[in-house]
This record gives sequence, C-alpha cells and structure tokens, in this order.
Amino acid sequence: MRSGTIGKAVPRLDGVAKVTGAARYGDDHRVPGAAHAALALSTIARGTIVAIDQAAARAVPGVLEIFTHENVGRRVKAGRALTAGGYTSSRVQPLASPKIYFAGQIVALVVAESAEAAREAADRLAFTYDEQPATASFDSPGATTRSTRSMLAKTRIKVGDPEAAFATAAHEIDARYETPAQHHNPMELFQVICVWDGDDLTVWESTQHVIGTQRGIAKQLGISPKRVRVIATFVGGGFGARNMPPSTPLVAFAARVVSRPVRLVATRQQGFTLMTFRAETRHRVRLAADRDGRFVALNHDSWELTSRTEKFILAGSENTARLYACPNIRTEARVVEADRQTPGFMRAPPEVPYFFAMESAVDELAHAMDLDPIELRRRNDTPVESVGGKPFSSRALMECFDTAAESFGWRQRAARPRSMRQGEWWVGYGCAAAAYPAQIAAADCRATLFPDDCALIEIGTHDIGTGAYTILAQTAADRLGLPIERIEVRLGDSRLPAAPLTAGSVSTASNCNAVAQACEALAKKRKAQAARTEPLVAKATFKPHGAMPFSQFLIRRGIPMFARAVRAGHAFFSSGAHFVEAHVHVETAEVRVPRMVGAFAAGTIVNPLTARSQLTGGQIWGLSAALHEATEIDRRTARYVNRDLAGYHVPVHADIGRIETILLPQHDEKVNPLGIKGIGELGNTGVNAAVANAVFHATAIRCRSLPIRVEHLLRAPT
Ligand code: MOS
Repeated sequence: MRSGTIGKAVPRLDGVAKVTGAARYGDDHRVPGAAHAALALSTIARGTIVAIDQAAARAVPGVLEIFTHENVGRRVKAGRALTAGGYTSSRVQPLASPKIYFAGQIVALVVAESAEAAREAADRLAFTYDEQPATASFDSPGATTRSTRSMLAKTRIKVGDPEAAFATAAHEIDARYETPAQHHNPMELFQVICVWDGDDLTVWESTQHVIGTQRGIAKQLGISPKRVRVIATFVGGGFGARNMPPSTPLVAFAARVVSRPVRLVATRQQGFTLMTFRAETRHRVRLAADRDGRFVALNHDSWELTSRTEKFILAGSENTARLYACPNIRTEARVVEADRQTPGFMRAPPEVPYFFAMESAVDELAHAMDLDPIELRRRNDTPVESVGGKPFSSRALMECFDTAAESFGWRQRAARPRSMRQGEWWVGYGCAAAAYPAQIAAADCRATLFPDDCALIEIGTHDIGTGAYTILAQTAADRLGLPIERIEVRLGDSRLPAAPLTAGSVSTASNCNAVAQACEALAKKRKAQAARTEPLVAKATFKPHGAMPFSQFLIRRGIPMFARAVRAGHAFFSSGAHFVEAHVHVETAEVRVPRMVGAFAAGTIVNPLTARSQLTGGQIWGLSAALHEATEIDRRTARYVNRDLAGYHVPVHADIGRIETILLPQHDEKVNPLGIKGIGELGNTGVNAAVANAVFHATAIRCRSLPIRVEHLLRAPT
C-alpha cells in the first residue's frame, strides 16, 4: 500500500526548526570546557618558513599552545586527494614542513582560552620566509601546461575525422572563451569541534561527507576509524566546498595535545584558501556545420588552472561533446600549473565553464548562419550520444527549449542583434542548453517500524540545505503507506548506514532508492507478522544498475565511487533550457536581467517544492557566474584580492528579476527503480551562456570572457 507522497510538494519538515534557530549547525553545538583555535595563514605563495617569532603571540593571556611545523611535522600524516581515492583536497598537509605552496596556506594553529585570544595570538606570530617568485595564473611567468588523465573524465576524445570535416564544412566558428576563478562561500563558515573521550574522538563538522571525514581523520592521525565519529546534522550550504578541510585533523591533533575539546571557526577570508575553489579556465571551440545546419565537426580544447601539487582537472568537454549529434569530435583538456591552492568541485564543476564555451559557440554559429538558435539546436538533437554511440535513456532537451520558449515569449524576438530597444536600454533575448550526467552511487539504509506505527529511517547522508530530510521521509511514507508525520529521518552521522558523499547530484537518486528498498522490505515483514509488540527492522543496500561491482564497499569506506552517466548500455542525462532577457543601458552599458525562464526534465521529481527551490537557486547562481562572480588574483603575489563578501560580488535581491522554473514530467524506468535523475547542479548549468547570448543579442557585442562587465560593453559592436 503506497501513500503517494512521492511527487508531492511537501514543505520542508525542518523548515520551522531552521527559521526559529532550533536547528543546530556545526558550531551551534556547545561543549563545556572547550578551548578555541585560530589559524595563521601564509602571506607568501611560494617559499619556505625560515623562522617563527612566537614571543608576542605567547604573551597574549590565555594562549594554551601554538602549533606550527616545528611541533606537528609528520605527527599528522599527509592526506590523499579525493580524486586519488582519498579524503582531502590535496596531498599537502599543512604544518608538515616549512614549505609554502600557495598564499593562504595554514602556517600555524593557535589554541587559547577564548576565540579572541587565539585570533590575536595568531595575528601576532611573526614569520620570516625565504620567498620565491610565484606564478599567479595563466600567462604568468612559470605557468606550466601539462597533459594529464583523470579518474573523473576523459581528458581526450577522438571520434571520426574532424580535420577533414572542417576542411569542407559550409560554416565554422572558431572562438576562445574564458571563465574566472570563483569561490563557493557557503553561508555557514568552515568550522569544526573535536572532543576526545579517552581514545574516542567525536567531531562536529558541517561536511558533505561524514564517512569521508571520519576515515580521513583516522588515516591522518593513524587511529582506527572505529574511534572516530563525525556528526553533521544540519549543514549551511555545501556546493562542493565541504569535504574535509586540512585544518580538521590538526584540530583533532591539537585537542589531544591540550587535553581539552577544541573548536575552530575559520573566518570568511580564510575560507578562500582553506578549501578548494572553481579554477579559471580557457577554451578554444571550433564548431562546423553543413549547409543545412547539421554539425559536422567539433573541437573543444581547454586549459584549467591547477596547483603545483595536484593535477586537478574536470574535462567537462566529455559532457559538451555528448550534447548534440556530431560525427567528428576531438577534445583535449590540459592543466596549467601555478602556485595556487588545489582547485576542486564547485556546483556543476565541469559544466559551468564548459557549457559557457560550448553554448556560446552554438549561439555564434546560429548567428553566423542567420538561423534561430533554437532551430540550430533542433537540427542537431539526437537520441544517441555522440562519443560512444549509446542511446539516452530518455531525453527531453527540445521539449525543454519549446516549453521555456513559449513561456518566455521567444517569438517576440527580432532576429537581428541590437535591434530591440526600450527607452534607454538595448534589449536582448538569449538561450542556452543545460544538461547534467545522472550519476548514482550505492547506499545503505536501515528502517525501523515501531508498534505504534512510527518509523525511523537511518541513512548517513547529509542535508546541505536541499531538503534531504523531507524527501527521504516522503519516500519512506510512500513505501510504508504511512502519513509523513509518522516518519523520523536520521542522517548526518558517520555511525549511520553508509551513504555517498553528498555531491555530483547523486543524493536523491541514490538515497531515495535505498530508503524505498529498505521500506519495501519492512512492509513485507509487517505483513508477515500478526501482533506487533517489538520494533521491526529492515536493512537494505541499494546497488545501482551499471555500478562497479563492490562499489558499496567503497562507499562504506568513504570513497566516493559514483556510477557515471554512461553505463550499462545507456547514457543517462537530465536536460534543461535557459532563457534570459538582458537589458544593457545605451550610455552606461549597465547590464540588468529583468527575467529568466528555465525548463528542466530530470526524471522523477520527489518534491516539486524543494526541487524548484534548488533549480531557481541554480538559475540565480548562473546569473551570478555570468555577471558578478570572480576571485581577483594579484598577478604579482599570487594572492586573492577580494577575499570577502564585500569584494567578492554575488547578486542581491535587486539584481534578480522574475524567475520562472518549469519542471517537465519525465518518466525514466532505465535510470534507477524510482526514475530519479537528480537536480542539484542542473539549474546553474548553461545560464552563463544564456546571459552572454542575451547580452550579444541586445548589443551585438560578444562577450567571451566572464564575468560580463561594463568595460566589456563600452566598445563598438562587432
Ligand atoms: Mo558538488 S560541486 O558535486 O559537491
């Protein structure tokens, strides 16, 4: 008996707790007797610490201990990067040696009786460096371009014979695009509280990965993971920033040394180098079509900035190459090394930069051919992905375009750029495609039914603001045929059954299927039993179709083993279409976006309320990526200049006009039993291109570098 709660717009079950302050985030947890930690960060980007003068710092009343490379060293072991099967973002563990790899690296951790004393002492530490010249970014002296491979994506693709096809093509676009460095800046600051009880360590840390953090701390401290418990009941935004920070094992180590619980809250400024970021990228896209507008060849070359210590690469051309029909494809993604922290994942990590390049190029080609950009995409729509020739399990790209176009009023668009005007403003309409791989992972779940018909669902996932508590309860209510009020969901604890890292838009698909499976087993047990006086328990392990064998064992060890989008005979992708109206002032070139429309198809939508909220948030972030966000790098010192929310621009209420978010129904039985594709990252994929395309249509000025600013538009139309 199913209660039909899957697909209902259930308001967040934790909504009241969140808005009344009852929901406790990481640092809301209070530990009696806790000492307070503060970080000191390197001011140079490359070199070696030769001396540390601690006198002034030690003179601050209340200082308990100062940790530097001199008294930590190898006592905290180096981590291994997530991308290499580890738990951290980098293999460089700070305080292991006097070496400095980037500006803002941790060079000391001070523990004191108060947060103020710790911070003052950290500020009073005087470091003497042997400073070496640092490479800041692309084009800086010393920037080194390298080919590399990745476990995440193909860095090279070759299909057919693109050169031959380019030679005879009727139309070709050959253009270069650039996207800037960006930082996640989740609302909740990076924090950790470490409490030892004998040999047992409890850690409150707002993380996207309790098991990874548990395993990572254990590895780096050389203790059994059984001794470590990590709790993250509520998390104030993830976005890829919240895997284990390098400060976490240091705080755990410090707590043991000072024999006190220790808490650390890094400042907003420190957050810019404590964790990862979205690296700046460059692209060259060549796209050719025949006389009828059918793509005949695509080359996508790309360069991604990385650190000196890790070749972190996203190679999003693997997804852009699968977006349309094209018989001849060549892609190559390379890294460029500089003296910067290792980059990482930031919401739709490969798609945000790569779709900007690809979907701008498609728009440029449509313009060059005098063809409507939607029509060009329609002529290249395909039921089969172009890299491996596998059929999409379901695909609604053109339905998304048509639905959004209708709602947007695309037909009112005058084809010629710089031909629509309202008073002092040029008006432009632009669109772009979105698509995101429907990855999935194994997950465990335990479901308990009590004699009073209340159920407890336990699964070690995380609610990073997405509505996980609510959708898991909906799934359980549906499968147990119970009202949702009778379901309690417990998550965010490394002691719970293992769920994957909350990332890559895998959570809903992976965890809801695990919950459904456990609850179906529980419902069977309930049926088999006559009188119920004892709780009934059912456990389930959801193994996704097409996943690596044994991937559930890796998930239990905190190793994020995701089954990729192309697996088991099919390609699994969600899709979407973004429409943007841009206004550009005729005199000042100020850009405003009064409205946006997005239509999305992502299989089963468990909760249209929380899904819409995430997609709308994605649309806003996409606009932000197009017009506001960039981390500015001092090219002389390789330091970030705008390390706070005053200098790092994000949209405020006045920057956002009307937003429409349309969810298209889509039934996909092949993707997983519940038919879920995931929506976490679809919404902010491709928006930047739609904005740039709208700005082009308004002004006839093509912006190939983000963010689009006034100075880019104070030039003659091209
Ligand atoms: Mo998200 S960038 O996949 O944590």
